[in-house]
Amino acid sequence: MLLIIGDVHSQYQVINEQISFAEEKIGQALDAVIVLGDLGIYEQQLKKFFGKEGGHFLRKVYFIDGNHEEFSQFDHLVEKYQHHLTHLPRGHVTQICSHRFLSLGGARYMDALNSPSGSEIKDCDIARCLAHKSGEVDFVLTHDCPAGIGVPNAPGLEFYGNPGFERGEELIEHFKPQKWFFAHYHRWFDCKIGKSEFYGLPESWKGFGLLDEQGNYEAVEHAVAKHEDWLQSFIRKIFSL
Ligand SMILES: [Fe+2]
Repeated sequence: MLLIIGDVHSQYQVINEQISFAEEKIGQALDAVIVLGDLGIYEQQLKKFFGKEGGHFLRKVYFIDGNHEEFSQFDHLVEKYQHHLTHLPRGHVTQICSHRFLSLGGARYMDALNSPSGSEIKDCDIARCLAHKSGEVDFVLTHDCPAGIGVPNAPGLEFYGNPGFERGEELIEHFKPQKWFFAHYHRWFDCKIGKSEFYGLPESWKGFGLLDEQGNYEAVEHAVAKHEDWLQSFIRKIFSL
């Protein structure tokens, strides 16, 4: 059984809390976890969790890149923390348990703050995906969703235009995947186009999905506490002075 989870934003402890809850629920150990981008690959936060606090994940964690990662140091950090995390590069097909996953991290351009250099999905990423034969892929993993599947915008973010990255329909047409998982929009979503099912996941602290050996998927709502992030901590310190 695989646990699929959305944006973590460096709240790494949430992954372990959801693993524990899921294993209690299903009464068995999970095979692995897949994070759908925005894990929060930032040097300081990784150093704090894995170094200073001696943290580790309870199960093997795979992840795709999102748009909120430290892209200037990404390859270095992926290598440095490879014993804790396994990155699924854009346009690669990876077998996890009995399933073959096509991974495509990144997102459509939003603005300079939310789309740092290196985060944007490019034509060469799409080409790398399309280089695989359609029969090689069971499921697709993306951070952003393909444009045009009906995902509503996050409230207040309407000025970014319609959600989704361009050329997603080429991937849908080529692979006709059984299921396609994405995050980024911080909300649950599901729809079916042809024989392909699309599932959006909210932030990791609101729930996760379970994918079994037969390819059956179940969305599980389960809220866990989110720790104070550096910005909240900074604001609290300023106002407590
Ligand atoms: Fe994102």
